[in-house]
Amino acid sequence: MKITINGLMKLGVAFAGVMLAASFVVVSVRARSSADDFDAAGTYKAKCFACHGAKAEKKWDSTHPEDQMVQSILNGKKAEKPPNMPAFADKGIDSGQAKALIAYMKSIM
Ligand code: HEC
Repeated sequence: MKITINGLMKLGVAFAGVMLAASFVVVSVRARSSADDFDAAGTYKAKCFACHGAKAEKKWDSTHPEDQMVQSILNGKKAEKPPNMPAFADKGIDSGQAKALIAYMKSIM
């Protein structure tokens, strides 16, 4: 194979194109928020079901503002009588996931 300047240029352009495409893939994977691949149904069953019930029928008022409910999930909420709503921020739940859980609870009511 004869290596020409032109051939090298084409190779360089092709290589740059591949690198650019690869970096787009990396960026778009990174840009996905934690809520995207979060399993709200599975988390609900594992962590919330025991207190809130199979149809999310217990111990919450779905008409409360979402921000307040997110805070309650992250930081917990003291009930009038025990058990209290536990805090889940230190158990790896973030506010996007809390919103997904609230949406899931509303969907099964
Ligand atoms: C140990 C029992 C318990 C567990 C487990 C539990 N909760 Fe609660 N949750 C409560 C109680 C009790 C309240 C009501 C507090 C009150 O009196 O306002 C509550 C309230 C809430 C509210 C309403 C908060 C508000 O401010 O209106 C939401 C939303 C909620 N829980 C979601 C969840 C989610 C999501 C999980 C699982 C990640 C979960 N809970 C796990 C007991 C629990």
